[in-house]
Amino acid sequence: MRTQVAIIGAGPAGLLLGQLLHQAGVANVILERSSADYVLGRIRAGVLEQITVDLMEQCGVGQRMRQEGLAHDGIELLFKGERHRIDFAGLTGGKTVMVYGQTEVTRDLMAARAAAGLTTIYEVGDSVTLHGFDGTAPAVRYRKDGQEQELQCDFIAGCDGYHGASRASVPKGAVREYEKVYPFGWLGLLADVPPVFHELIYANTERGFALCSMRSPTRSRYYVQVPLEEKVENWSDEAFWNELRSRLDPAARDQLVTGPSIEKSIAPLRSFVAEPMRFGRLFLAGDAAHIVPPTGAKGLNLAASDVKYLSDAFIEHYRERSAAGLDHYSDRALRRVWKAERFSWWFTSLMHKFPGEGEIAQKLQEAELDYLVSSRAASTALAENYVGLPL
Ligand code: APR
Ligand code: PHB
Repeated sequence: MRTQVAIIGAGPAGLLLGQLLHQAGVANVILERSSADYVLGRIRAGVLEQITVDLMEQCGVGQRMRQEGLAHDGIELLFKGERHRIDFAGLTGGKTVMVYGQTEVTRDLMAARAAAGLTTIYEVGDSVTLHGFDGTAPAVRYRKDGQEQELQCDFIAGCDGYHGASRASVPKGAVREYEKVYPFGWLGLLADVPPVFHELIYANTERGFALCSMRSPTRSRYYVQVPLEEKVENWSDEAFWNELRSRLDPAARDQLVTGPSIEKSIAPLRSFVAEPMRFGRLFLAGDAAHIVPPTGAKGLNLAASDVKYLSDAFIEHYRERSAAGLDHYSDRALRRVWKAERFSWWFTSLMHKFPGEGEIAQKLQEAELDYLVSSRAASTALAENYVGLPL
């Protein structure tokens, strides 16, 4: 089989790239390790920057997002038992974010790909190997239904996430990795209960961080910071709700509606960047190249901006026979990646309890939060990073 761009991974990055390329007449095939149901089963953050919303619209998959997505023009910061609103729209000249689950983004992109009759080969497991991307005739080999297959292509897009085969296929000396692992995790719970508030609440408390988020007016997503070694089986629903209550202000505590969990899991937090994001005819995008702690809700949005840069570059190559976009892709994407990494690290450092840093750490965080909510300049800095910096 042959195509123009072989995409590894059918997560948001791979699916979005496939759709943008298809719309421009660039042939592509996606190879996915797991089943479509498994991909859809992964619960991930759902805060879309306007750039991501625009790309969904550009792909022609914005209808359900417009109908079911929730436009948010601010968040609440909770510290010292009080809530303070950060007015995104007022501080950024009207910019907002869209709350729409990543599962729904993925579902919409999968449906559009199927409707266009595009080839997505699911359940290839860990059989994918990459070949010849340091030359001019790259290929991807994989096994499907017990048969070894080869996909010849012009380019390979590694959209296969942090644990994927793409970055792992690059000679060790050719890639430089930067990583920071945080000394705690997020215990997340999904439940079909109305959200405690109509906007997200980020809480800094002496017991640790908490986040009140949502998927719809009837489905809520909550998180509490837990020690790194914590196990999800140690947490009954009741224990979770009690811990969350202990980290909320009185008004939110009174408003909280609890119920049985649909999903409960613990996720580690890390900052990670691989440089560069291009190796000959192999280009990395999304989690394959970088990971952010979820505090700033940047993971999906960085995948989207990588894909915007990369799809433009591929389209320019085929339409104008120009390599300019491809040659600038890595530097251009990394400039935006590092700004989002900084913001995600800063917000994580401000809102979480770091073990072994003593009581002064809490006082310093509270002082920074006090300053932040009373300074238009500091609140604007938070707001403009949260809604998304320009491309
Ligand atoms: N072969 C084929 N597919 C693979 C392989 C492989 N060797 N390894 C991983 N994959 C698939 C995974 O099964 C997954 O569906 O690649 C896809 C990668 O998707 P994501 O991990 O979601 O990464 P990305 O598309 O970059 O989206 C980033 O997803 O994980 C969240 O927080 C992250 O919101 C961010 C977003
Ligand atoms: C979520 O809804 O899962 C979510 C929202 C905002 C974040 C992280 C996760 O910063």
